[in-house]
Amino acid sequence: MNHIRKMRGLAVGFGALLFLSGCGAKESPEPAANRRFETEMDENLIAVGFSQVGAESDWRAANTESIQSSLTPENGFYLIYEDAQQKQENQFKAIRNFILQEVDYIVLSPIVETGWETVLQEAKDAGIPVILVDRMAQVDEELYTCWIGADFESEGKRAGEWLEQYLEEQGRAGEEIRIVTLQGTLDSSAQLGRTKGFAEVMEKHGNWDMLEMKDADFTQAKGQEVMESLLKKYDDIDVVVCENDNMAFGAVDAIQEAGESCGPDGDITILSFDAVSAAFDAMMAGEINVSFECNPLHGPKLQEIIGTLESGGTVDKIQYMEETYFDTSMNLEELRKTRAY
Ligand code: AHR
Repeated sequence: MNHIRKMRGLAVGFGALLFLSGCGAKESPEPAANRRFETEMDENLIAVGFSQVGAESDWRAANTESIQSSLTPENGFYLIYEDAQQKQENQFKAIRNFILQEVDYIVLSPIVETGWETVLQEAKDAGIPVILVDRMAQVDEELYTCWIGADFESEGKRAGEWLEQYLEEQGRAGEEIRIVTLQGTLDSSAQLGRTKGFAEVMEKHGNWDMLEMKDADFTQAKGQEVMESLLKKYDDIDVVVCENDNMAFGAVDAIQEAGESCGPDGDITILSFDAVSAAFDAMMAGEINVSFECNPLHGPKLQEIIGTLESGGTVDKIQYMEETYFDTSMNLEELRKTRAY
């Protein structure tokens, strides 16, 4: 690693950040304490620019925390964190600022899969390795060093298979099953994979009727709003597939406010993804049936990958996180004690 290059770059970068108006750094609500521009640089630290999607969900907060608490000065890192507030253009600005700062690595969680060729080519031309976390970018694989994240398609398939078995156990396997889906941000890997995986199982069941799939942007507020509109439009919804926990929390609020019931003892079965701590609360309260884990703890793996690259080693291009699922038939009280988020 060229530390002289890094030191000069960080000084230039700070000036550039002050100069550029409307850039991700200025708009970010992240407290200044998270940026260490003001502090004296230790030339031995590895400079990493991290462009995060936003703060749209509990999962995202856990993911940010994991990366921030791994890439610390104590562990040898100088982390520049940028919250894109769910806007791809903010991620473009952040990456270009990281290039100006001549960071050693760029870590990017791409909000959507498309549109990254130009900016990632700029990073490559500047000789800065890019590590993708969580979501994928549809670009030539030469444009990124590796990717860490979840197998979203398997998560969606697991959800479909869970529903298959649940309906069987309920003696409802042959009934018409009316389903709606609250989708995550369209064109994001999590949305594309979960939708695709669930659809693969649906194809086997002519009696499963997908009434509508609607974007609720992975947020609780949107989840509630979209569920309210679906409840007005359709009678007798049997199943709601929520492509993350926060949308499920919003959906539960909408269902309860409409005077309907959900969860294992209610009329509407709720499937969700992430398995964050609040989803355990919702399952234990009998509001949602199941949550398919999406592991947000990327920090330690990222630290290990950069360590390997720094010592001249190679890393696997695609690295999946381990995942499972949790439902109300399990001892959630005990399981929750083992959970970090
Ligand atoms: O990309 C991972 C997804 O993004 C999580 O499921 C969701 O909660 C987050 O916003």
